[in-house]
Amino acid sequence: MAQSNELAESPQAPEALKISVIGCGYLGAVHAASMAELGHEVVGVEVDVEKAEALAAGRVPFFEPGFEELLRRSLASGRLSFSPDMKAATGAAVHFVCVGTPQRRGEYAADLTYVEAATSSLLDVLGPGELVVGKSTVPVGTAARLAALVAERVPEAALAWNPEFLREGFAVQDTLHPDRLVYGVADGGPVDAEALLDRVYARIVADDTPKVVTDYATAEMVKTAANSFLATKISFINAMAELCEATGADVKQLADAIGHDDRIGRKFLNAGLGFGGGCLPKDIRAFMARAGELGADQALTFLREVDNINMRRRIRMVELARQVCDDSLLGKRIAVLGAAFKPDSDDIRDSPALNVAAQLQLQGASVRVTDPQALPNVRRQWSQLDCVDTPEEAAEGADAVLLLTEWRQYKELDPAAFGAVVRTRRVLDGRNALDREAWEAAGWTYRALGRRNA
Ligand code: UGA
Repeated sequence: MAQSNELAESPQAPEALKISVIGCGYLGAVHAASMAELGHEVVGVEVDVEKAEALAAGRVPFFEPGFEELLRRSLASGRLSFSPDMKAATGAAVHFVCVGTPQRRGEYAADLTYVEAATSSLLDVLGPGELVVGKSTVPVGTAARLAALVAERVPEAALAWNPEFLREGFAVQDTLHPDRLVYGVADGGPVDAEALLDRVYARIVADDTPKVVTDYATAEMVKTAANSFLATKISFINAMAELCEATGADVKQLADAIGHDDRIGRKFLNAGLGFGGGCLPKDIRAFMARAGELGADQALTFLREVDNINMRRRIRMVELARQVCDDSLLGKRIAVLGAAFKPDSDDIRDSPALNVAAQLQLQGASVRVTDPQALPNVRRQWSQLDCVDTPEEAAEGADAVLLLTEWRQYKELDPAAFGAVVRTRRVLDGRNALDREAWEAAGWTYRALGRRNA
């Protein structure tokens, strides 16, 4: 693994810093390469040796558009290296903590094991004047606790919290051109955290990116509040979809109409199977758990309903599939298009599509799943599901086709040609993403969540 401390070929920017990024999963790997792209000398520390080696060789262990090019460019510049050893972080001016905070098993709260382990091993190499910067999504109060540890072990070092808002599928763009910067800093202290972070993000700051400098608790909460708002917006429109189903109204037209109001906006108002992934579901649950610990649980009880509405969509999708299959799933062949929790990602964590596919299979249907990127992950983690490479293979002889993740290639399927492979032309559009008229014109029975039947 390249362990260069020297800046090779490309010229160093005047504001360049030595930076370490602890944890090179999704967030950390993209952050490390992006910081090198901004001109800094970066070492990514990743305890999983295989992952560190893959990244150092320019191989991306997950699918993210544009990331491989960025990684290879940064490696070629000589400014980016990876190591499994925390010692490689020695001497960096800024240390970003980017490890995961998954949901605890059997509980709502976040599991902080990785954040704690990373910080404690970082403290062994942390030097005076250096800044630890948390990027992981954590329960409010974590930063203050970690800052106290830093102050105790290395009194001349400091800690800041700098939440990350990147979306999977747009990770590179969101990291290099974020819509805002949030710095949670302590008053006073041995390091001017704001000035140092401004140096890290010099190019982003120069783009007039809005910046909010605040305390730790606010910075931590900005992240969980933002994700809770997004989840609430999706569940709001999905609740409207439930009502549309009861009244015969059309949720897509409803979303278009209310979305024209700038105060509401059309983004994140796509009704369908709802949200999944490694962030929104676990973040709203951890937020509720933390509110409970703080004695403020009433403030977030609405998030329980947001979660419930979201989970009900999955059940409703299975019911709809049963309905269109003449009220019985037993022995029916179902094609599932999409397995990732959203398009342009191979992430299947809490994927609504796989949840539905598994329920259908458990209820006796014969299910075939396809996805342009996520199949290796599905095969590894959901070995009971039958995976095939193409939508045509999935749909061969099918009694119903379910679009559950709105990949572009599925939206662009030719309904006439595709209709030739199925047994019965029934399509369930779980993401309200297909051109309904075109599918109906090609002889398909089209059903979707929150939409009128033809
Ligand atoms: C989300 C946030 O959007 C990011 O800002 C945040 O940084 C990230 O979590 C995180 O905490 O790390 P991400 O999980 O990549 O990003 O995905 P989103 O684009 O937010 O989509 C989440 C889910 O909502 C997907 O399952 C998607 O299909 C669903 N969704 C989204 C809808 O059902 N309807 C919509 O209108 C939009």
